[in-house]
Amino acid sequence: MIISASTDYRKAAKSKLPPFLFHYIDGGSYGEHTLRKNTEDLADIALKQRVLNNMSELDLSSELFGEKLNLPLILAPVGLTGMYARRGEVQAAKAADNKGIPFTLSTVSVCPIEEVTPAIQRPMWFQLYVLKDRGFMKNALERAKAAGVTTLVFTVDMPVPGARYRDMHSGMSGPNAPFRRMLQAMTHPQWAFDVGLFGRPHDLGNISTYRGSPTKLEDYIGWLGANFDPSISWKDLEWIRDFWDGPMIIKGILDADDAKDAVKFGADGIVVSNHGGRQLDGVLSSAKALPMIADAVKGDLKIIADSGIRTGLDVVRMLALGADCTMLGRSFIYALAAKGQAGVENLIDLYEKEMKVAMTLTGAKKISELNRDSLVAFK
Ligand code: FNR
Ligand code: LAC
Repeated sequence: MIISASTDYRKAAKSKLPPFLFHYIDGGSYGEHTLRKNTEDLADIALKQRVLNNMSELDLSSELFGEKLNLPLILAPVGLTGMYARRGEVQAAKAADNKGIPFTLSTVSVCPIEEVTPAIQRPMWFQLYVLKDRGFMKNALERAKAAGVTTLVFTVDMPVPGARYRDMHSGMSGPNAPFRRMLQAMTHPQWAFDVGLFGRPHDLGNISTYRGSPTKLEDYIGWLGANFDPSISWKDLEWIRDFWDGPMIIKGILDADDAKDAVKFGADGIVVSNHGGRQLDGVLSSAKALPMIADAVKGDLKIIADSGIRTGLDVVRMLALGADCTMLGRSFIYALAAKGQAGVENLIDLYEKEMKVAMTLTGAKKISELNRDSLVAFK
């Protein structure tokens, strides 16, 4: 029985996945303080109840970079999605497509760009990381363009990976990791057959396509640390801009001055995000950072917010705080791990229902009518 969009799917994902994968998804960095704050701070934001406004007609659609979105939701880029469900990126992309919202493919996806785009009607979004190998980046941008990708999401908050201690305990990394993972797979036979056996090849599809040989996943966390580039600066963005003529979004902005620099640079959008509490523990939750950023740049570029969204009410809160749209991370991944494409479609339906109730009772007929007046004064 599903009683909340994310909580029940999280439980189902936990029992289905080998622990090393569940904890990689579920965990944050260091003491996981920011991870907790992301959900707690959002839940603390009080919506303002307004009544008797004839709310029989609601419109949840919007336009973003010339695309129509049925709901103000985007599926966020999530690495290794093809390990949580069989060819998981394709399943999630199809769910988003059927529900009229964009899907963003991660650089470190299992399925390569060319496997996902033919499965969907809408143009796919692609997320790029700065790797030391600039040849890969150029190649990925060319391939994305050739495959009909419209929107580029350039993630800037991972020049180095945050320390994820859960991964060391769970067998994702650390001593005897491959052996521990094999034992965990054996005790999760449904996953072992469906994904472990029939969901192959298991590798970083975009990187393997570039290199012409499989990129094995034995030491994925080590691979991230070795290949991500801490020298990243605004200059790299100029370099990318030369290769990309579509909309470009900078993901991982948490500070108003950085947001202003993104405007100066000419970005089409930003994602206000702390990477779901997976990078610098102790930074502000997105819900706390968003109002300051919206005050600084609202209207100059599109503001997308993520980190901590677990229900349609949270989406309404983010929009009221100043976001134009939102991204879902773990929320859709739990549903995908539990029930595949059908789970993600059901999750999106639940978000829609929750949003409709919240909009009806805050008196907002369109998503553009959600603003700070929809909230009781917030700290
Ligand atoms: C992520 N995130 C992420 N972001 C990105 O730009 N590229 C990536 O490859 C990944 N990989 C990734 C893996 C996993 C398992 C998680 C949980 C997250 C971050 C993601 O896009 C998004 O910012 C957060 O997930 C948002 O927070 P919530 O919704 O998970 O709280
Ligand atoms: C993570 C990376 C891959 O958060 O974005 O694990």
